[in-house]
Amino acid sequence: MKHKFFAQYPPPAGTVVEADQVHGEPLAPLTVAIIGYGTMGRAQALNLRRSGVQVVVGSREQSVSGDRARSEGMTVLSVAEAALAADIVMLMLPDEVVAEVFADEIKPVLKPDSIVGLAHGFAIAFDQIQWSGPCFLVAPKGQGDMLLDGFAVGGGLPGLLAVTDSSPPETWDLAASYAKAVGCLVGGGFVTTFRQECISDQFGEQVVLCGGVIELVKAAFEIMVEGGYGEENAYFECVHELKLITDLLHRHGVDGMRRCISGTAAYGGLTRGRRVISEDVRENMRAILSEIESGQFAREFLARHNDPRQGTAALADKEAASPLAAAGRRVLPRLHPNERSSS
Ligand SMILES: NC(=O)c1ccc[n+]([C@@H]2O[C@H](COP(=O)([O-])OP(=O)(O)OC[C@H]3O[C@@H](n4cnc5c(N)ncnc54)[C@H](OP(=O)(O)O)[C@@H]3O)[C@@H](O)[C@H]2O)c1
Repeated sequence: MKHKFFAQYPPPAGTVVEADQVHGEPLAPLTVAIIGYGTMGRAQALNLRRSGVQVVVGSREQSVSGDRARSEGMTVLSVAEAALAADIVMLMLPDEVVAEVFADEIKPVLKPDSIVGLAHGFAIAFDQIQWSGPCFLVAPKGQGDMLLDGFAVGGGLPGLLAVTDSSPPETWDLAASYAKAVGCLVGGGFVTTFRQECISDQFGEQVVLCGGVIELVKAAFEIMVEGGYGEENAYFECVHELKLITDLLHRHGVDGMRRCISGTAAYGGLTRGRRVISEDVRENMRAILSEIESGQFAREFLARHNDPRQGTAALADKEAASPLAAAGRRVLPRLHPNERSSS
């Protein structure tokens, strides 16, 4: 093997590859097709170009993001043309379409040694695609715009790296080289598996980031309002100040965060927090983890995501009518007058 960024092949889970151990050589002679120029595809395509890597973009007809790629100087081809032209085919597509697009437009044009890359483990963990050639995961631990903006100023994000069992060992070096070229080795590249990445990602989203925190905030807001407290007051306490705490947590860890807040806040949190997240809430978290692990969540999502009553858009529309969302629409223009509304 020509390049050796790891001490052992395959590297055991938990191995961390540092940016200064990795260079661009494995990737340099290869052309990358970015299939899907959305939040993550665009960030990776632009970062690859900044790193001097040859990139083409694969887009469907009349694609808004394809037009954007063209306007940003990318070579834009159909999905199949891009996959055919490239050595590495990065599937930067939503989870719900990756199976169909891969089977219909990509797999038929791949060569046996074509390399398939992903930014999230779902497609492999839940058998949405089958590829016996080289296949790697570089999952940025953060959002696409953060990756793009961070890389532009010499930073980026940490990345989770995985390679399928059937891939040749050098796929690990390619994954590390790719991660470096898109800015995903900042803080390290952490070796994992497609399944671990996917399950921990979904669990974090459901239980903490996009489910648990939102419902916690909503319940607290509603209880304050029920108790006769003003909606704006409740909004500041339960939503606005969340950023302060998450910034401290992100930067200083949980113990460092406590050292930065008042003694009253620290004591109140330490003595009351566990009453909020009681044992039955932990049981609910365990049940959610089991649903993710068994594939029940993936099946439900794939079956319902477009359902006019139970799909994502329908559920989000219903939530937009909540008192919390309405309070946000009143308060936010005062706090961020120059921000364009995303509603
Ligand atoms: N967003 C993030 O910050 C983030 C973070 C970590 C990992 N990821 C992973 O990155 C991958 C891409 O996610 P994303 O958030 O970037 O998605 P996204 O913003 O929704 O973009 C999806 C892209 O796929 C294209 N597309 C959708 N359906 C298509 C089809 N049938 N045929 C061809 N192209 C199609 C869209 O093009 P049109 O303009 O034509 O609709 C768009 O360019 C996912 O695996 C996700 O889990 C994303």
